[in-house]
Amino acid sequence: MKRGAAFGAVALAAFSLTPGTAFAQATSDASEGPRTRIVGGTPAEQGEFPFMVRLSMGCGGALYAQDIVLTAAHCVDGSGPNTDIGVTGGVVDLDDPAAQKATSTEVLQAPGYDGTGKDWALIKLDKPIDQPTLKIADTDAYDNGEFDIAGWGADREGGSQQQKLLKAKVPFIDDATCKAAGGSYSGLVDAEEICAGVEAGGVDSCQGDSGGPMFRKDDAGEFVQVGIVSWGEGCARAGKPGVYTQVSHFAQDIKSAADQLGS
Ligand code: ARG
Repeated sequence: MKRGAAFGAVALAAFSLTPGTAFAQATSDASEGPRTRIVGGTPAEQGEFPFMVRLSMGCGGALYAQDIVLTAAHCVDGSGPNTDIGVTGGVVDLDDPAAQKATSTEVLQAPGYDGTGKDWALIKLDKPIDQPTLKIADTDAYDNGEFDIAGWGADREGGSQQQKLLKAKVPFIDDATCKAAGGSYSGLVDAEEICAGVEAGGVDSCQGDSGGPMFRKDDAGEFVQVGIVSWGEGCARAGKPGVYTQVSHFAQDIKSAADQLGS
């Protein structure tokens, strides 16, 4: 099956780039398995990942600058002036009155994005969100090891969006192993996508986490962004990793795009 390019698709196909909608739909599945959250995660502490933002179309993002959010291309609808996207930052609980809110003024979607690879976009904000930013990896030195993921997306495949930020850790999976998962994974774009997940399943990003960062500590002990939540077959299935935009590959493109937006 070919990936759908645009956000706004209605059906949540098992394999999908569709972002989560604004929370709501209380899930009524009594048959769910062990209680898990992001999938398989735990609540993040207030201030633990201060660069995390929630986008109103149901995606995550990270503060590249205080007035520029790095997210997924499939979370936005092309490039140009855009005042439709609400951005919430500075809180783990989206209902916290201390939340900092901003609105998009312009979107820059990865040039040439067609639903395969290149899943990154920048959103310029009308005002800064006063929080620390997340630097991006500009070499592949950190494209290995164990990564952090966080988001307000579904806490299980088909589950509902979360009010409070969840986090989890996922190990790197090399391209050959990821491709061997078959199906859509055989179309992995090696240079542009990086896989991570737990082989046995149970821990993963999921619908609504898209656009959010995958990150780790660098040699200086600072967080560095290595990925952007992009897609997977279902969520947290055994042998079906999460696929993330390989940020290091696009670092120069992202930097010049941010310059274009002015920060
Ligand atoms: N495309 C999804 C979104 O828009 C993210 C899917 C991530 N899936 C995964 N199994 N890691 O929110």
